Amino acid sequence: MFELKEETEADWWEVEALYDLCFAPGREALSSYRLRDGVPKVTALSLVARDPDNIVAGAIRFWPVFVGGAKTLLLGPIAVHPTGQGEGLGALLMRASLSKAREIGWERVLLVGDAPYYNRFGFEKLTGVEMPPPTNPDRVLGYELHRGAWDGVSGMVTRFEGPTG
Ligand SMILES: CC(C)(COP(=O)(O)OP(=O)(O)OC[C@H]1O[C@@H](n2cnc3c(N)ncnc32)[C@H](O)[C@@H]1OP(=O)(O)O)[C@@H](O)C(=O)NCCC(=O)NCCS
Repeated sequence: MFELKEETEADWWEVEALYDLCFAPGREALSSYRLRDGVPKVTALSLVARDPDNIVAGAIRFWPVFVGGAKTLLLGPIAVHPTGQGEGLGALLMRASLSKAREIGWERVLLVGDAPYYNRFGFEKLTGVEMPPPTNPDRVLGYELHRGAWDGVSGMVTRFEGPTG
């Protein structure tokens, strides 16, 4: 019913419009956006879901960051159009991108979000991982793509410097 594809440059404005619709105004003022500024997103994992009429129904993006110096995926934003929420598309985007992330060799994923939603995918509250303020520490969640991938990884989350991909 939905076609999932890697986001291309041609998709950009439709995905931005979806995020503008789904998030509060000023979303780009959030501290997590400072980690994304000027850093290319991870294209292989940033997916767009289109319905049979070719309308964008949902999207997920990922950026690389460092956590205490360890290369880590920052998940988000993820959004599903309000008319299609609660029908499993969010879960489809989460599962497809996480499984691809594992396949292409990423170790761990970080996000800032609602634990009651992300727990179902295996995300748990991280302790000792500090997002730039102001971020509610209860919303800082992590997921291991490989067992033990968060062991010993802690500290400040900082902008990624270096080749992405
Ligand atoms: C969050 C979002 C991407 C989920 O996509 P979706 O397609 O609606 O999700 P799914 O259909 O896979 O899952 C629906 C379930 O998640 C629950 N859920 C959705 N958002 C939730 C939240 N913020 N907290 C807790 N549960 C949530 C629903 O209540 C529903 O529960 P049920 O399975 O018990 O009925 C979508 O609701 C959305 O775009 N929200 C606005 C933007 C947003 O908040 N993005 C996330 C930023 S952290």
